[in-house]
This record gives sequence, structure tokens and C-alpha cells, in this order.
Amino acid sequence: MPHGTLPALDIEHTLAALTLEEKASLLSGHDFWNTPAIERDGVHVPAMLLTDGPHGVRKQRADGNEVGLGDSEPATCFPTAAALGSTWDTNLTTRVGEALGREARTLGLSVLLGPGANIKRDPRCGRNFEYLSEDPVLSGDLAAALINGIQSQGVAASLKHFAANNQETDRMRVNADVDQRTLREIYLASFERAIKASNPWTIMCSYNKINGTYASQNHWLLTEVLREQWGWDGLVMSDWGAVRDRVPAVAAGLDLEMPSSWGRSAALVIDAVRAGALDEAVVDVAVRRLLDLISKCAAVQDAAGTSTAPAVDHAAHHLLAREAAAAGTVLLRNEPVGPDAAPLLPLAGPDGVVVIGEFARTPRYQGAGSSQVNPTELATALEAFADAWGSPVPFAPGFTLAEGPTTDATPEALRSEAVALAASAATVVLFLGLPAAAESEGFDRTHLSLPVDQLALLDAVAQVNAHIVAVLSNGAVVTLSEWQHQTPAIVEAWLSGQAGGAGIVDLLTGTVSPTGRLAETLPVRLEDVPSFGAFPGELGTVRYGEGLSVGYRHYDLRGAAVAYPFGFGLTYTSFAIDAVDAVVTGVGAHAAVTVTARVTNTGGRAGTEVVQVYIGDPESLVARPVRELKGYARVTLEPGEASTVTVELDSRALAYWHPTLERWAVEGGAFTVEVGASSRDIAASVTIDVEGDDISTPLHELSTMREMRANPKTAAEAERIVSHLDVGMLAMVDDFPLTVVADFGIAGFDRAALARAIETAGA
Ligand code: BGC
Repeated sequence: MPHGTLPALDIEHTLAALTLEEKASLLSGHDFWNTPAIERDGVHVPAMLLTDGPHGVRKQRADGNEVGLGDSEPATCFPTAAALGSTWDTNLTTRVGEALGREARTLGLSVLLGPGANIKRDPRCGRNFEYLSEDPVLSGDLAAALINGIQSQGVAASLKHFAANNQETDRMRVNADVDQRTLREIYLASFERAIKASNPWTIMCSYNKINGTYASQNHWLLTEVLREQWGWDGLVMSDWGAVRDRVPAVAAGLDLEMPSSWGRSAALVIDAVRAGALDEAVVDVAVRRLLDLISKCAAVQDAAGTSTAPAVDHAAHHLLAREAAAAGTVLLRNEPVGPDAAPLLPLAGPDGVVVIGEFARTPRYQGAGSSQVNPTELATALEAFADAWGSPVPFAPGFTLAEGPTTDATPEALRSEAVALAASAATVVLFLGLPAAAESEGFDRTHLSLPVDQLALLDAVAQVNAHIVAVLSNGAVVTLSEWQHQTPAIVEAWLSGQAGGAGIVDLLTGTVSPTGRLAETLPVRLEDVPSFGAFPGELGTVRYGEGLSVGYRHYDLRGAAVAYPFGFGLTYTSFAIDAVDAVVTGVGAHAAVTVTARVTNTGGRAGTEVVQVYIGDPESLVARPVRELKGYARVTLEPGEASTVTVELDSRALAYWHPTLERWAVEGGAFTVEVGASSRDIAASVTIDVEGDDISTPLHELSTMREMRANPKTAAEAERIVSHLDVGMLAMVDDFPLTVVADFGIAGFDRAALARAIETAGA
């Protein structure tokens, strides 16, 4: 413990000294951002300050408004999760987390409200910019990296929004109707992976219902899954205003309600305890978790309760934000052009280059809502070009951001000026993207198109100059298929934080080479997305009818075209992946796979490859995605250099959630191990044989013949019964309940034989 810090809080002593009234009061916020303090003889419970998150600290100043938005203390605005997701880089993301933790600590925070680990179910979700990926492995890893970084500074992270909060429409009430496999394998898996790799001190539950019960009072979610099955022991807080019924919420495992309920919840809790409806021991569990959190966070405060953190080096954090912005930018397209068939990027220098697009001067670098940060400084691409090249680059705004997202509000003079500039240039760097009004926390988009006036500008510019580099700033996916033929080069920069303008220019000029890879699929059309037609639901319910087919899992199942696949990203060099091998050790839940592959830089510049490992289980009792990302490795190589990467997988990489057994199951048999540079660029595939664990389920009278055949203990008897059936008959009989097989007397199987089979199969 650093010199001058408080003595450790004696949790049990404090708990014993607190009255029921005091304990109940501690379980709701004191105000919008603080927990209550209790100071009296022998009892000292300090308040904690909780503040957003997730990509910068938003410590509200006194003049913020009643929903906690408004002016906040300056803090570094790091790239949003959409951009951090595309880094696929846990080391870099941990460093961003550390910087977030340092700023949080210096501003006196105990808890930073982030990161978000919700899966990007649909590109229309207004809050996708706050989420990392459509894939639970990538999302879980990067969330863990942020949490580890934040908490290394003695500040708690709050992993949010737990769970199945994948849309903004009706987010405070909507019932997410999701089957168990989909929950476990996709939506909960992202949180589970993050929790197991980082142990966040707090988790924030979501507003919505999950299969009929609000997350805030969902005992299955908050106690059975989170604590009993995953073994996590931190504090659950509510999203702001997510508590509907405080007493069942306490019983479900929701420890802290935020913000204040002005005494109403405390009174309900006290009454319930006095009436015998709520055990005081349950209240004690929640208070103990709160005291535990206070003591974890108190290590960074001195005896006067003020932070012991050193001053933050904001210039260094801005540089880190710049590095992360470049790393999260994905080079989507870089086609050869002109007589020498050279790609436009990296730009060789200022000669003949002009910049068009208001975003180059007025960057769109963060999203709207609770994550909005008051940046310490703001880099624009225009300034960054001038810094890089020593003189200003010719510029025309081309469109205005003043009007709404769908109308063509650009004055003709503005467009003509831009077209004239483009006509005079060798290369046009055209900044396009979504205006702030198009996407935000609180609502979802209805389409994926860029604004009409920007597309009109692109059309006009393309008519006078074919050498266009499009740079995109948007928090969630936009469609490109309708316009990308006009731009030989496309860079997706997402919402890349306060230093984004500089980070993008670093990449365009080649100071930094592109390493970003897509953390989500870019679809050809909105109509192709898996949840099209089932988003955002109706009459208070959203059915996750696409099940496991989220993101690339959906497109791969159908063999459907995409604009750019999950995992994709170009570099300024080229790589070859070969010598792929996979070795299995262990059995069932103890199985492990070591995957190795050789990567060679076959191009002319240094660069980084992200080698991706996908697993498939082509033969299974249950439907499994064609391929699922299970691991990846980064390798940076000089031209001509080769290196062997190793990816270690545990049995979860092979398992599915067995809804009857209610546990993870490794079904024995052949699995494919695919290694490549994206989900659609598989360099090599090898097959491994895995010895599974026992996944037989008990038989009962209405089990089917298929289930009797699948159970190893009854398989031989079942095969005897069906052995004389032809293929068509077998298909029919396979789905007969065993009572029907017995009553039809197939191959002498009768009710007595059925009873014996049930006994043989065992519990
Ligand atoms: C958001 C949370 C945020 C909280 C506090 C809620 O509306 O959903 O992500 O942390 O407000 O601002």
C-alpha cells in the first residue's frame, strides 16, 4: 500500500456495526454519481465516485444536466470500442486501459463505467461504437485487456451491460428472447471470457429483460450464472435507472442501485426485512460486496480521502490515443491505379494531394450519449497533414454537417468548389462518414447508408478524378457496395478519438503501417444482415431468431457474399501463411489444441499479420457454425522474414453448450482447424480427432430412437432394433418416441425392454 493511504477497512467489523437502515441506505446511490458515505462513532464508510467510461473519463462538472450529461472535466478521448476492436491487439488495449485508469484515479474516481462487452448483433444498434466486436472471443479478450489496464491503477472497471442489451430501441424494457445455446455461446460468452481473464471488480447489469425477467432482478443471470457457475465475486451495480423492483433485485444479486432513489428503495428493503420477506443475511451479502469494493479502491486515496495519483501526462496520453487510432484503422481497399499500376496508399508526399470533406477539419471522433468525453485536445487531419508535410494541404469542405443525415443540404457552391479542387489534383483524400445525428446511444439507425449529400459529392468528384482515397468516420457499419467502385482506396477509421485525425494521417502517409482488422462483417446490403426483420423487435419483445448465426457465422452458414469479411484488413505489404499444424492433447473437458503456422512477409515493406484460428465441427448432434474464431496471433515481420506463430486453445474452443446437460460439452470426433488472414481467407485447414467427454443424456419414455442410438450405453441395443430398417424407414423411426417403438413392437422391443433401456442409460 502506498505511503499515507488509509488503513484497510475492517469489513466484518463495519458490517456488524451498521444498522439495518444504514445497510439499506448503502445499497443505492447517494446522488447521480456517488455512493453514500456513513461517518459516525466507530463507523467510517467512505463514498465512491462512479463515472463513465468507456473510452475516456467523463467526470461531470457541477453544471451538468439532470441525466448526467453536459460539461465534464477534460480527459483524453481514446478511440471508441469500434476502433479498439479493430486493433485485435490486447497489449495496446491494455495500455489504453492503464491510461484510462490513471486519468480516472487522478480525477478521484473509484469506478470507471466500462468497458462494454455486448455483442454487435445488428449494425443498426446506435451504441455499436461502444462495443468491440460481433465475436465473443475477440470482444472478451479486448474487454479483459481494458479491465486489466484500468484496474492495474487501483480503479475498478465496470463491465457492462450485462446482458443481451444489443439495441437501443426500447432498451429500458424490451424483452430479449434468446435460446440457451445462443446466450451461452455468443452473448454471455463475451462477458464470461472477459471476466475470467480480468476479474472486473464490478459489473453493470443492463436495462432490458432476458427471457422475461429484468436483468436487474434476474437471479439466474446475476447469481447462478455469474457467481455460482463462473465463480466471480465482485459487485453488481444497476445501469442508471435499471431497477424496477428493488427487493427482488437485492435477492437476485443486484448489490448497488444507481443512481439515487432518494430513500425509496432503502425503505422497501427495510420493510421487506422486517416483514420477513427478505433475509437480512442477503442484505449483508450485498453490503459486504460494497465494503469490499470500497476497500479495493481505497488503496489509491490518502487519509484525507484524496487521490494519491501522480499528475497525468496528457501529452503522452494523446500520443497513445494517436497510436491506438492508427492501429484501429482498417485499410479496406488499395487497388492499383494509373499507368504504373501502383496503389494510392501510402501517399508518397504532398505533391498533387488535396483533401476534401468537412470531417478533415471537423473530425467526428466519438459518439453521443453517456460516453461523450470533453477532450484535452483535438487533432484534425488537416493539421496533421500540415505537420507531416510542412505546409497546409489544399482543402475544400465539400458538404456541411449542419443539417440532418438524410437530406442533401449541401449548397451547390460548396460542392462545386470541391469538384474544382479535385479536378486540379493528382490524388483526392475524401473524408466521408456519419454525422453525429445519425448514430447515438438512445436510438438505432434504420439504414446503413452514408448521407445523400456525401454520396452526391463522391459522384461529382469521381467524375473529375479517379484517384480517390476515401477515409470513413463512423461508429458502426456503413454500406460501401453502392459506391466503392468509385474509390480505389478506402480506409475505415471508425470513431477514433481525439487524436484520430493524426492517427489517420500517420497511416495514410505510411509513417505507420496498417495493422487493423475488421472486428465485424461489412455486409453488402442491410437486407443481408442476420437479424434483418428481427430487429429491433415489436410490442416489447425482440426474438433473437437467428440464434448462433451472428455476424460472420451467418454469412458463412449461407455461403453469402459480404462486402468485407470479419478479420479482414490490408497492409502495405503481403504475407503468406503455411506449414499449419494442430496437435491435440487430453480428452473432453481437458482437451487442448496447439496450433502452429509459419508466416512469411512476402512483400516489400515491414508489416504486421494477424493470424486467425477458426474451429469447425462438421459432424455434431447439434447445429454448429461453419467456423468460429478461437484464437489469433500477431506477428511483425521485415520483408522476406518468416516466423512461426503458436496459438494455444483450451477445450472451450471445441465445446458447445448442451442445453439438456446444462454444461459445456466436447463431442468427440473430427474438428477442422482453419488458419488464415480473415474468416474468408483461409490459408490452410487441418483436421484433428478429438476424444470427447460423455454427453449421453438420460433416457425417458419419450426419448426418441435417435437419442437411444446416440447414448453409448444403449447404442448397441438400439442398432439391433433398427438394423433391418432401410434408410427411409430409419429416418422415420429415428424420430419415434420409444413408447411408440415399443407399442409397434419393432424388432421385439416392448415396454419391458424400454424400462430396461431407461435403466441401462442411467441418470
Ligand atoms: C448507460 C450506461 C452509463 C450510465 C451512466 C446509462 O444510460 O447505459 O452505459 O454508464 O448511463 O451514465
